[in-house]
Amino acid sequence: MTRKILLTGPVLMVDAMQHAADLGIQIIPTTPYLPASELTEIIRAEQPEAIIVRQGKLTREMIEASAKLKVIAKHGVGYDSIDIKAAADRGIPVTIALGANAQSVAEHAFALLFSVARQTAYQDARLRAGHWDKSTANGTELFGKTLGLIGLGSIGGILMDLVAPLQMKVKVYDPFLKTLPDRAHVERENDFDRLLESSDIISLHCPLTEQNRHLFSTAQFQRMRPGSILINTARGELIDTPALIEALKTGPIAGAGLDTFSPEPPPADSELWSLPNLVATPHVGANTTEARDRVGLLAVQQVVKVWDGETLDPRCVVNRHLMTD
Ligand SMILES: NC(=O)c1ccc[n+]([C@@H]2O[C@H](COP(=O)([O-])OP(=O)(O)OC[C@H]3O[C@@H](n4cnc5c(N)ncnc54)[C@H](O)[C@@H]3O)[C@@H](O)[C@H]2O)c1
Repeated sequence: MTRKILLTGPVLMVDAMQHAADLGIQIIPTTPYLPASELTEIIRAEQPEAIIVRQGKLTREMIEASAKLKVIAKHGVGYDSIDIKAAADRGIPVTIALGANAQSVAEHAFALLFSVARQTAYQDARLRAGHWDKSTANGTELFGKTLGLIGLGSIGGILMDLVAPLQMKVKVYDPFLKTLPDRAHVERENDFDRLLESSDIISLHCPLTEQNRHLFSTAQFQRMRPGSILINTARGELIDTPALIEALKTGPIAGAGLDTFSPEPPPADSELWSLPNLVATPHVGANTTEARDRVGLLAVQQVVKVWDGETLDPRCVVNRHLMTD
């Protein structure tokens, strides 16, 4: 019998679709961000053996709607849109495509960093609006600055190396990191407040958990260096948005580059849009051809491994700690 993977999204990239077709697997696409009741009904009707979560949430009700469900694969690494406990309650592993989009997100964080430091987005908008701000524009160099990384996993680890030619010093705050990579320009900072006080730039690369919601709020912004820059390609909820808006308006921080927001998208009348020192992109850090190819293929491969009873890298199974057996 044909095995079915339901996809919360319209399509996977060519390699992933081909891999599924070669194995005789049927991919069932759905419209992104369907109302919960509609998606639940589709799952109930199709009874997929796997779900690949690309766009939108996967709730307990959806997970319980397919009696045949054996595995859930996140098309990416941020799994906060999936009820991993509901999956664990049914013994269903939730996998993430660990590392598959890391290069793209790290490069995006790097691009945001340059864009904030040199006001490229702002200057572009000004120029298009007919202004020639050559005499007034001013930026900052990144050379020799200190970069604080919150989280040194796949993405933070690549960014750490990307900044090395700029002779930047990197400080890492990651309470779960076992071994710090051996690099002359990288050191560990276990004290979060000290990291805030000693970094010129802070870039977030940790997952969102119940413990670190609003990791950055007024008190943290106040501790940051005058003129510092905050980059967030991780999750919007790590930052208290009104506090960030205030900090960008009044200091001490000089600029921010955000790819993720809370909520997404931010409302059209958000004060964020009035800030000239903010560079914003619509959660597109992983949106490259190369990353999509790798993520989609890895998601299908993980599904097949679980179906076949093969062991996955435990770091890829994000709800293993919630499983009872
Ligand atoms: N913008 C995008 O399109 C995009 C794409 C992929 C991932 N992301 C986000 O980036 C995050 C990081 O991705 P990754 O692939 O590097 O993940 P990863 O799992 O490889 O690394 C995460 C690191 O964060 C550390 N960590 C966990 N909790 C922490 C905490 N409270 N404080 C500091 N460090 C902590 C972990 O020890 C780990 O080293 C994801 O969780 C996701 O939310 C965003």
